Amino acid sequence: MNEAIRLINKLNTDRSLTQDEYAKLIELRSPESTSYITEKAVAARKSVYGNKVFIRGLIEISNICKNDCYYCGIRKSNKNCDRYRLTADEIIECCIEGYSLGFRTFVLQGGEDSHFSDDILCDIIRRIKLNCHGCAVTLSLGERNEESYRNLFEAGADRYLLRHETATESHYQKLHPDSMSFKKRFECLETLKKIGYQVGCGFMVGSPFQTVYDIARDLKFIEEFSPDMCGIGPFIPHKDTDFKDYPSGSAELTCYLLSIIRLIKPNILLPATTALGTVNSDGRENGILSGANVIMPNLSPKSVRKKYMLYDNKLSDGDESAQNLENLKNKMQKIGYEIVTDRGDISK
Ligand code: 5AD
Repeated sequence: MNEAIRLINKLNTDRSLTQDEYAKLIELRSPESTSYITEKAVAARKSVYGNKVFIRGLIEISNICKNDCYYCGIRKSNKNCDRYRLTADEIIECCIEGYSLGFRTFVLQGGEDSHFSDDILCDIIRRIKLNCHGCAVTLSLGERNEESYRNLFEAGADRYLLRHETATESHYQKLHPDSMSFKKRFECLETLKKIGYQVGCGFMVGSPFQTVYDIARDLKFIEEFSPDMCGIGPFIPHKDTDFKDYPSGSAELTCYLLSIIRLIKPNILLPATTALGTVNSDGRENGILSGANVIMPNLSPKSVRKKYMLYDNKLSDGDESAQNLENLKNKMQKIGYEIVTDRGDISK
């Protein structure tokens, strides 16, 4: 039997491969292996979630960041970035608007902005929970200490997204300045899990210096850590970063990896990311058709959307906009999926 098909079948029964096998499976990507794994991934997702797609309202609360990640458009040293920070009132307003549009999960994402102390964030989380009955709050605010993660959890935060970025230490060091620590990143993920958050990790596909073995290690890490969510999207260069001349990651490889991750963990919450929609006009649909089951439309105030430029040409209007949910619903319906209005917790 064809080696790729054999590995896909093995993954689909064992939910596990060795790191070498993951690497082999990536190397053996072909039209044939892609269509086979897509079929298996869609079946696995269907057995847990039917044809439901969950939506999250994404609110980009600040593009101020103390970090200087080499790939990121809102890195500290980017002097061309027009900085902003939303007020607590503005954030609550976004949630209330999102609630009326049907959103039941709000994702507060931002750079590591020291203005957002525990007190300020706890107050915001409580106000969201009070104003938006039955909603879930997801935070995506980078590295904080254990006490802080606990305070935010006790205030009502349900989920935390912290992409691990790469599970290979030497690769991590090529993407980040010395002030950032690989070890610390993974400790944060462990801490979040221990506290009781639903936790998401993730990485960029095609980031500079990434090898097939690095991706295989990411997959092995995902298998072992068993996150509730996993965000992956292609790397896209930003003109004001050191990586401006590196090529974008491949949408096709991203979709193939979405299928692999779905087979590793059939109940995982897997977004078809904005970056995937940015490199390819039908990226989001292809993501869903490869095994993703989450879409995160942008709920930030329109006046700041263009300022949260993690990479060049990042989408924020059209189907990316929370206000255009009807369009998105129609597009999903056309490919056989239904957008649902509920918290969309992981099915256990
Ligand atoms: N291309 C794609 N994704 C990026 N991110 C940051 N910069 C880029 C880029 N240039 C991703 C990182 C980060 C998330 C918020 O956005 O993985 O964790």
